Amino acid sequence: MRSSKIIFLFVALMLSLFIAPAVSFSQEEAKAPAPVKPAGPISPDAVMSSKHPPFAPQITCAECHETKFDAGTMKIYKQVNEKVTMEKDKATLEKEIIDFLNKMSSGKGTPGVGCGTKHGSALVLATCKDNIPRATPLDFFNEGLTLYIVGEPGGKIVNLGSNPNVSAAIYQSPMDHSYEQKSLQIWGKATLITRKNNEKEFLDRIEKWGIRDMARALLSPQVRSGEIPGDKLNEAAEKVLDTFSIIKIEPDRITLRVFRTDFTMPKYTWTRER
Ligand code: HEC
Repeated sequence: MRSSKIIFLFVALMLSLFIAPAVSFSQEEAKAPAPVKPAGPISPDAVMSSKHPPFAPQITCAECHETKFDAGTMKIYKQVNEKVTMEKDKATLEKEIIDFLNKMSSGKGTPGVGCGTKHGSALVLATCKDNIPRATPLDFFNEGLTLYIVGEPGGKIVNLGSNPNVSAAIYQSPMDHSYEQKSLQIWGKATLITRKNNEKEFLDRIEKWGIRDMARALLSPQVRSGEIPGDKLNEAAEKVLDTFSIIKIEPDRITLRVFRTDFTMPKYTWTRER
């Protein structure tokens, strides 16, 4: 009998050792303000009033409020960028965008070397049909702010036929913080220039950027295989050109973003006057 009493006491002691800390821990937890959910949506620059319900310091705004960013962090981030985004006058901004386009765009290369194009950086063109977006990396040429792309028949031309609204991105890659880099987001309307609908404008651009050499280069595998006899190459190249469309993009809005080495990234917006 005695030994069972000892066992009972031992078990009771063990239980109190294990249960007591568990109880006191859960009481401690109850003291901390429990997350209040859900709270209404807040804007990224929202500031809490002194009446704001208390919450533990490690909880972010986004855990209770519907917001894309942590509003507290976003506010500081926005202030820093607003400080460096001094108002640039439109002419200065326009010149800066054109200089960047001139630097990034393709041009006429050396005839007979490669495809005859001096390649610049790619432009990514976004088109849309039936609510399905399509992003295409392409060579581009520019005249001032107007962009030109030589398009073979394909999905992007089909999309433009039903929706002329486009967006395009031009950026330096890879991202490198050791020097200042730029990127452009462009919105505008596209029109198609073909030999059929505007022969003069079409051929001017074909000449200007050496697109005939490009068409010939595209046919070189068929010339090598004997499918196209060498003396028929020019004729075949003209037929290829007949299938091409020059996509002309006249921007309505351009956003220039500058990535500086000090990690500030001011953003400037150019809009066309209507
Ligand atoms: C633990 C949940 C919680 C967190 C975290 C939280 N809020 Fe709130 N917030 C609330 C609740 C609940 C209210 C009451 C009104 C409501 O439902 O929107 C509120 C109200 C607000 C209001 C309007 C009333 C006032 O106090 O001015 C603002 C502004 C606000 N919050 C901003 C913020 C910001 C900014 C942060 C981050 C720094 C944040 N909140 C973090 C729960 C929270």
